[in-house]
Amino acid sequence: MRIGVFCSGGDAPGMNACVRAVVRTAIAAGQEVMGVCRGYAGLLEEDFFVNDRGQPLMTLRSVSDWSRKGGALLRSSRSDEFRTEAGQQKAVAVLEKHGIDALVPIGGDGTFHGAVDLARFWGGQIVGCPGTIDNDLCGTDYTIGFSTAVQTAVEAVDKIRDTAASHERMFLIEVMGRHSGYIAVHTALAAGAEVVAVPETPTEIEVIVQQLDELKDRGKSSIMMIVAEGDEEGGAEILNERLKSAACPFSTRVVILGHLQRGGSPAPEDRILATQMGDAAVRAILDGKTGVMVGVAAGQCILTQFEETFAQHRPIPQSLLDLLDALSQ
Ligand code: F6P
Repeated sequence: MRIGVFCSGGDAPGMNACVRAVVRTAIAAGQEVMGVCRGYAGLLEEDFFVNDRGQPLMTLRSVSDWSRKGGALLRSSRSDEFRTEAGQQKAVAVLEKHGIDALVPIGGDGTFHGAVDLARFWGGQIVGCPGTIDNDLCGTDYTIGFSTAVQTAVEAVDKIRDTAASHERMFLIEVMGRHSGYIAVHTALAAGAEVVAVPETPTEIEVIVQQLDELKDRGKSSIMMIVAEGDEEGGAEILNERLKSAACPFSTRVVILGHLQRGGSPAPEDRILATQMGDAAVRAILDGKTGVMVGVAAGQCILTQFEETFAQHRPIPQSLLDLLDALSQ
């Protein structure tokens, strides 16, 4: 059997560890692996990883030392052409031409939408791994890259707190998470932030200003407010303007962390998660499974239909939001 593996959508720390696990598990089971470069776009262009013998096949040595490396060494992309039916049919022709029997896409909801579209025209197996810093997919407790992104964000917030405390300021720090507040809530909890704004809960400026007044009265002199980029009231810049207009009692500054959160060497949690998932994806393929994403829930590898991974917004546990409220005194 020939398995194709690729990374798609926003890169996430740990994707390389996942590819490594797919390659080594598959080869150990006597299968061949082709690395598709640049996601669905590269598939359409027949852009395959070439090994040191000049063949379009990944070897045990192709992935040496990949676990600790950030970014996506196979490269990644978001492909407009693949979103069309013509693009999907072209992809099928490429897969057939190269004798690929199964695919392991590593990515987020866009990647799995693509997998569902492809499966309408292609009879091969597709078993995905959740690779996105957003942690916004159902069917897994954590996605590959989330842990590292939170660690990076927390390190940044810790540093910003130093300068905030020195100048008795409030900082609005915008973190990623296109439609999700997961990175924001975990960062806020770990960094001891006082306020968080996420798309999952209403962001009410008057309520926040009242909370800030109370915190100031209780002697707080610096404030960290973590804003998810996808907050329904807007990002950090917009919220800052609105706070200022509503008589915010602190002098404010805005920091947008942006793509910084996607880079860097993956944290051990992400390396381990990615390795477990890559291995589980290959085993699922050998077991005849298709149309599913590998997840890890309560320590166990589970499989979830692609459609179910993105059909619903993944809620943030109310207990975490309550804890944030209780501690921001
Ligand atoms: O999905 C991962 C993510 O980093 C989101 O958090 C963010 O909104 C988006 O990708 C940014 O995408 P791009 O790199 O294409 O600007």
